[in-house]
Amino acid sequence: MAEHPAYPVGLRLTGRRVVVLGGGQVAQRRLPALIAAGADIFLVSPRATPSVEAMADAGEITWQRRRYEEGDLENAWYALIATGDTEANTRASAEAERRRVWCVRSDDADEATAWTPATGHSEGVTVAVLTTDAKGRDPRHTAAIRDAVVEGLRDGTLVAPHHRTRTPGVALVGGGPGDPDLITVRGRRLLAEADVVIADRLGPRDLLAELPPHVEVIDAAKIPYGRFMAQEAINSALIEHAKQGKSVVRLKGGDPYVFGRGMEELQALAEVGIPCTVVPGISSSISVPSAAGIPVTHRGVAHEFTVVSGHVAPDDERSLVDWPSLARLTGTLVILMGVDKIGKIAETLVAHGKPADTPVALVQEGTTAAQRRVDATLATVAETVRTEDVKPPAVIVIGEVVKVGPTASAPRE
Ligand SMILES: C[S@@+](CC[C@H](N)C(=O)[O-])C[C@H]1O[C@@H](n2cnc3c(N)ncnc32)[C@H](O)[C@@H]1O
Repeated sequence: MAEHPAYPVGLRLTGRRVVVLGGGQVAQRRLPALIAAGADIFLVSPRATPSVEAMADAGEITWQRRRYEEGDLENAWYALIATGDTEANTRASAEAERRRVWCVRSDDADEATAWTPATGHSEGVTVAVLTTDAKGRDPRHTAAIRDAVVEGLRDGTLVAPHHRTRTPGVALVGGGPGDPDLITVRGRRLLAEADVVIADRLGPRDLLAELPPHVEVIDAAKIPYGRFMAQEAINSALIEHAKQGKSVVRLKGGDPYVFGRGMEELQALAEVGIPCTVVPGISSSISVPSAAGIPVTHRGVAHEFTVVSGHVAPDDERSLVDWPSLARLTGTLVILMGVDKIGKIAETLVAHGKPADTPVALVQEGTTAAQRRVDATLATVAETVRTEDVKPPAVIVIGEVVKVGPTASAPRE
């Protein structure tokens, strides 16, 4: 028989019977997609892997614990034949042929009437890759092509703008702590599709250099604000560009809602009816300690962590932080925006009962090439910040967790 290329098609299996023969690794790999497609799955196999068993226990598939028998493919629309018994597979595929049920065979692609493509998903599309004919079948190659396409779409290196669904508006994107690899897949994709990017100083600034030349990149810190507050000026820049019908990304450091004024921007946009999507980001409050070898919790050491803004001193009447209560907590304190006020903060914590020898770590410019960690104690931190010239941005971690990792350095006396 002359070799013709396989004809690609998407099966809509919702509520339709799919018979799976064999409960081993092949079934384990294929079943999740069949379940996701809404198929009515009937598994026949004397044994199954623990994951397949769990699918049966959860009611996602019906499992009969026995070997394949003639007649099992009755009423099936599609069959996956993957038992360890070649003779049973041959009988089953003969039954499939007779009943005109499309079937894939794990042991013999030549005998199958259908092939499973290498598939992946990215934002509403399924990428499916098949080799043209049986002779050229090379599953690793098709999987590699699938990976390249899906990865490219996810990280924005393969740009396929949405023409039908792409709506102008604003996306508040949490960019993570600074390392360009630590933005989310969605954030990176939106960035690749933007017409205008309004970026903060913190966050993955290296990504801005990769944007195509037509993208207008605006430094939020440089938006002139005259009689407005800086934040109002940023809000109006967002509104102005979105009103021109552009796709605007507001790229923020960390997560937009952790000391990021994300909600203020969302509210300003909502007031004028501009749609806004929020993409969460990896907050520096957790990731920067982690990048410096500090777990914010550790079994037997800290059962809680509290993230606090240190931008106003404890004795400032504008402070909303209950420092005396924080001094009594046994867990980890993570302080953002606290480099300038750390002396006062440490003093207040000690005055309210926190031991003066509590370990402190300051992690400056975490996750970037310039990352640096300086250790101290509550008693020494003010002096250490001065002598070591610690500068913002830095995350300050206070608590015993500072000492648990192998990278902990001796505090400076
Ligand atoms: C205005 S807050 C924004 C926090 C951000 N939304 C987040 O979730 O990480 C800025 C503060 O975050 C901390 N910060 C952000 N990125 C940092 C980094 N890469 N290294 C150290 N500190 C960082 C610093 O304490 C800085 O002063």
